Amino acid sequence: MSATEILREDHLHVKRLEHIIIKCYEALYREEDVPFSDIEKITMIITEFLDAIHHAREENSYFPCVGPSGDFEADVRKFLIEHEFGRKIAVQITHHLGKWKSGEEDREPVARFLRTYAIYLMDHLSKEDKFFDEAEKALDPAEEKEMSDYFLAAKAAAQRVDELVKEIDDLETRNWYRAEH
Ligand SMILES: [Fe+2]
Ligand SMILES: [Fe+2]
Repeated sequence: MSATEILREDHLHVKRLEHIIIKCYEALYREEDVPFSDIEKITMIITEFLDAIHHAREENSYFPCVGPSGDFEADVRKFLIEHEFGRKIAVQITHHLGKWKSGEEDREPVARFLRTYAIYLMDHLSKEDKFFDEAEKALDPAEEKEMSDYFLAAKAAAQRVDELVKEIDDLETRNWYRAEH
């Protein structure tokens, strides 16, 4: 698998997470119960998969490799700012979840920041998917292979992706996720 294909595969997992987040904030807005542990699982996947693995692959390898080779510099700069924006929203989700857990009525801000995060993901992923199509044409096969070898050599990260995908599978079994409205 090339580096671009690995990142596209990451995005498929992230899109499942995005759908889970939408179901979660919709349930919260309807005043339905979503266990704190499920919302914590969502924030854990954001931190450990999106930030620690996927954004690291993009920021430390893919963007530096693609950025200078053509007209991609402006896109890369925009994506880095968006990643930072995403991290700030995730901090807000964790912050308000903590307050809610400690007894304050913080359901609404948790729902609101989850919704903001889902909107961020939708926008960011669709722009990056288009970017990958162009970047793929600009990268030469040796560069693609070198990066994908590097991604796969980080065995702990690759193994952690498998575990986190199982957590996504698990969240998709929840009643609040499966309920039709
Ligand atoms: Fe990204
Ligand atoms: Fe991405």
